[in-house]
Amino acid sequence: MHLAGKTVVLCVTGGIAAYKAADLTSKLRQAGATVRVLMTESATQFISPITFETLSGYRTVVDTFDRNFAWEVEHISLAKAADVFVIAPATANIIAKAAHGIADDMVSTTLLATKAPVVIAPAMNTGMYDNPVTQQNLQTLRARGFHIIDPAAGHLACGDTGRGKLPDTPTLLHGIEQALTPQDLKSLRVLVTAGPTQEALDPVRFLSNHSSGKMGYAIAARAAMRGAQVTLVSGPTALATPLGVERVDIVSARDMYDAVVSRAGAQDIIIKAAAVGDYRPAQTADEKLKKSDLDLNIALVRNPDILAELGRTKHPGQQLCGFAMETQNLLENASDKLRRKNCDMLVANSLRDKGAGFGTDTNAVTLLFADGTRETPPLMSKEDVADVIFDRLLAMRESAT
Ligand code: CTP
Repeated sequence: MHLAGKTVVLCVTGGIAAYKAADLTSKLRQAGATVRVLMTESATQFISPITFETLSGYRTVVDTFDRNFAWEVEHISLAKAADVFVIAPATANIIAKAAHGIADDMVSTTLLATKAPVVIAPAMNTGMYDNPVTQQNLQTLRARGFHIIDPAAGHLACGDTGRGKLPDTPTLLHGIEQALTPQDLKSLRVLVTAGPTQEALDPVRFLSNHSSGKMGYAIAARAAMRGAQVTLVSGPTALATPLGVERVDIVSARDMYDAVVSRAGAQDIIIKAAAVGDYRPAQTADEKLKKSDLDLNIALVRNPDILAELGRTKHPGQQLCGFAMETQNLLENASDKLRRKNCDMLVANSLRDKGAGFGTDTNAVTLLFADGTRETPPLMSKEDVADVIFDRLLAMRESAT
């Protein structure tokens, strides 16, 4: 979460979803943001300003139509203080005002004065949301660079079913963080592989490895946050799909091969963070093997090397990044893999390093580049490692053009 130290001006307008803004305020604060809440008068009919005061630690500014000097100063200072300006829930009314520059209360005047990125989360009755007037107003705002978080569909407070629900807090947080994040991977297609593969011995048993998938999921999450169109081909993991990512689940190395190779041609960047099983049992039994049937010497056959295949078929402009986890001779093995598999970059990590490896939230890596150069960033979170990987890949793209 990159919201720490940011000032979020949160405007709550009058709809039944206003109560959900309390949870948003709390989660923003937990993420390290300063939250300054503004409410329209009608919002106060749904939830008390005191709730936000308690959660944010600041006085909630309510539009009282008290146009005195302090009021004027306050709305301008909040407009300036905002790193990001959020309207959640946003009624059809505030959306219409925002689209047409109407400034007749605290929220709309402050909105008009701010230069911060603006995030709007519409929430209203389906009929109001689907009305062409509202849709056109949202289109106008989108064209002006406002970030619109689409409402969810489902059961609405008015009894209707359809689009118009305020999305859950994680989706709102994701939209707010995205508005604060440069969209430098926009228009790029990124495919990431993550997690282990499982090679079945029988319906009960398999060969696998300790990969948790955390590194690959962090890469997919950061790519989506930076605007890429992301496909995550994942082995079995316990992790939630990062927001904005299309996930394709696979089990075996051969499943992963099919899923990746069939999509590879369309990708600008492919990052192979998965721990792919090099071997599979020569035979997979249809029925559970009994103790007495189990041969102590299991015959194995080689799996296809997906990264090597991608290296062979790489198209001009496509970037390929592999991973290598080693327990010894890290850099020799890694630079050999980089060359053999025709990668542009290889991320090497040693299972022996503290804070690196399977299941950890941090990673200590060395990046090896095709031109022979290397870089060893300090120990950092897997999300930060993901950002460094994309920063370097983007720099290589820029220097190639
Ligand atoms: N990889 C792959 N397909 C395989 C094996 C590995 O795509 N069948 C990819 C991994 O996703 C990783 C990179 O190759 O990005 C390195 O994996 P690793 O297992 O370290 O490489 P190997 O070539 O298997 O080398 P070795 O087992 O000799 O260390």
